[in-house]
Amino acid sequence: MFKNKGIQKLRNKYLWPIERPAEEATGVHGWLNKENEQWLERLCAEKMGHVERPFIFCELGVWEGKTALHLLKKFPSMYYIGIDHFKGSPEHQTNAEWKTHLPKLKEKAFAHLWPWKDRATLITQSTNWGICEIVLAGIKPDIFYIDAGHETTDVMQDFLFSYKANERAIVCGDDAKWPSVHKALTILELNGYKFLKDGNFWVLQEYSKI
Ligand SMILES: C[S@@+](CC[C@H](N)C(=O)[O-])C[C@H]1O[C@@H](n2cnc3c(N)ncnc32)[C@H](O)[C@@H]1O
Repeated sequence: MFKNKGIQKLRNKYLWPIERPAEEATGVHGWLNKENEQWLERLCAEKMGHVERPFIFCELGVWEGKTALHLLKKFPSMYYIGIDHFKGSPEHQTNAEWKTHLPKLKEKAFAHLWPWKDRATLITQSTNWGICEIVLAGIKPDIFYIDAGHETTDVMQDFLFSYKANERAIVCGDDAKWPSVHKALTILELNGYKFLKDGNFWVLQEYSKI
């Protein structure tokens, strides 16, 4: 279904393991609240249109693959590209519970997404590097979902890299209420980007040069 040359190039570089990594029977840990779930489903349906048009969804920050799994199951015409260095963010490295997930994070993501490996690529790099790979492969994702580093500069960089990679894409993200994320969105707003926010979910509405 995905005859896209760029996707083939990326798949040849970011290979799946030969065998499914051993998966612990603890379920898929992650962050996908109802609000985000509904918004992401709505935006994917919008990009898909009335016909089952293939579309490319790029998630910045995969963790164990909870959001990826949900959308891959729900949208058979979606190709998923996830970018994560799988080292965790500062808040994961300091939280006693989240820290326990870090040693096997990458293996778990590959194990959870294994049944959908024909429709997914995991770029095991920093988000900036990952988007460069996407651009260099000539891929223009239809949707970017930003949920990686939550520091103000992380969010601003992830947003601007994504937007510049495809100015026609839907660019959205999580944790609009986090003070550092809120600050990033505010700075971007002062520079002409307008966001719709619903709880923790945010999505770019329009951009006008100022
Ligand atoms: C909040 S979790 C993502 C949750 C995920 N979206 C879900 O549905 O469960 C954030 C992830 O971003 C990754 N991350 C943080 N900063 C990153 C960076 N600069 N480059 C790549 N990955 C990063 C962390 O390793 C972590 O797995």
